[in-house]
Amino acid sequence: MTRFVWSEEYDLGIDIIDHQHQRIVGYINQIYDISASNPHVQSSGAATDTGTDIRSVLASLVDYTLSHFAFEESLLEEAGYPELAEHQLVHRQFSNLIESLKLRSEQGEEVSQKLARLLQQWLIQHIMTEDKGYAELVKQRLLGIEPDRHRHWVTQAVSRYFQ
Ligand SMILES: [Fe+2]
Repeated sequence: MTRFVWSEEYDLGIDIIDHQHQRIVGYINQIYDISASNPHVQSSGAATDTGTDIRSVLASLVDYTLSHFAFEESLLEEAGYPELAEHQLVHRQFSNLIESLKLRSEQGEEVSQKLARLLQQWLIQHIMTEDKGYAELVKQRLLGIEPDRHRHWVTQAVSRYFQ
């Protein structure tokens, strides 16, 4: 595998979500970098620096991803997204996966590039299917500030020019 390079095709056009996704990519790349530079080191046992680093990145990844999912789900709820329950289920499955990987790493299992690849594949697939599935609706319902801005501009312009 290679490092996860962000591409425009992964953008949903919802800045706050795109930034959160890129931060998750950053954690996945950290796991990749650490395991790539120490391919045969165990993730715990003799408490190597590498093992400690990977465990700490995994903990951050789990933490941040859970917060991101919670944020995204509340955004979808706010937008009245009809497939929220299905989306939540997919999030839960991934949460369980990374939680169990974190646990296995804490118990001394080697965390390899295989893990980084799995996370990378999952995230790309999720963004390109389920997340792309809600993007237009959220943009229309929550980010469609143009109508209000336009109305405001019209009101101001009318009072300015037609007194
Ligand atoms: Fe999602």
